Amino acid sequence: MSVQSVATASLPDGVILSVENLEVCFAAGAANPMRAVRGVSFQIGRGETLALVGESGSGKSVTAMTVMRLTEYDGAKITGGRILMRLKDGGITDLTQLSEKRVEALRGFEFSIVFQDPMSSLNPVFTIGDQISEVVMRHQGKSAREARAIALNVLKLVRVPDAARRLDQYAHQLSGGMRQRVMIAMALACRPSLMILDEPTTALDVTIQAQILDLVRALQREIGMSVLFITHDMGVVAEIADRVCVMLKGEIVESGPVNQIFAAPRHRYTRALISAVPRLGSMADKDAPEKFPLVIYDAETAEPEAAL
Ligand SMILES: Nc1ncnc2c1ncn2[C@@H]1O[C@H](COP(=O)(O)OP(=O)(O)OP(=O)(O)O)[C@@H](O)[C@H]1O
Ligand SMILES: [Mg+2]
Repeated sequence: MSVQSVATASLPDGVILSVENLEVCFAAGAANPMRAVRGVSFQIGRGETLALVGESGSGKSVTAMTVMRLTEYDGAKITGGRILMRLKDGGITDLTQLSEKRVEALRGFEFSIVFQDPMSSLNPVFTIGDQISEVVMRHQGKSAREARAIALNVLKLVRVPDAARRLDQYAHQLSGGMRQRVMIAMALACRPSLMILDEPTTALDVTIQAQILDLVRALQREIGMSVLFITHDMGVVAEIADRVCVMLKGEIVESGPVNQIFAAPRHRYTRALISAVPRLGSMADKDAPEKFPLVIYDAETAEPEAAL
């Protein structure tokens, strides 16, 4: 399994993913390459939730998709840095160096991603059961019967009511919230060490959003996976994250434990993001997180106040 593991690379104990000085460009060969991700570094520990926040276009999705090695299909190129991942067999591999075939074998098994819009990720012509089973058969070499049993279990794990009946339903027969649960079930089917959720609740109404956040937290307690949670909603960050990285124009401008980021934000942009959010803890007596407007920050005219 670990033939392509990096013999010389090491990760501190308990670290699952280490992104180091990552550079991602679109139109890399052109006279004016678009540097979507600029020297981004962060680590995620086992069982930890790291929130990646920042306004639209700041590079959150490109960072996540690059960890999944999916941006290359959009014409992006990794022009620098490393993405070290601790695999289930204990090996450490640099995802940037792997062949496409090898990455395909890891995707869904070691790490997986849940997108904002489950309708575009679920296949309309296959049943829910078949789609989850397919992932299990591909990665774990299980028979169709075994895979179906695992699919049923994982649907129960994400609290899909009436799971046995749902196995034979199609995506269009489910509500938006239920589809998002199915996407999480599919991402969980092979028990990856890391799950990336890219704005998984943005398209959902506020009650369903709260249920999905509760679910992610419960799953983490139950199976101990690490989560990279992307959002531009600081209310959601307060609800779910252990640590936060704030992105602005392709760079991480501030990072730290969630309490520290809310209590003593150092970068002006972080303060601007937080100023739209009530005090940390003030949502404790509310049933659901609230949505906040996106902050537009003009980095050309507003320089960070604090040295980072
Ligand atoms: N396929 C692509 N081709 C060219 N440029 C792209 C492509 N995808 C993203 N970009 C650019 O990369 C930058 C970062 O985009 P990204 O999608 O990561 O932003 P984001 O932080 O996820 O924003 P949002 O909150 O809107 O999802 C943007 O300037 C975007 O225009
Ligand atoms: Mg995005």
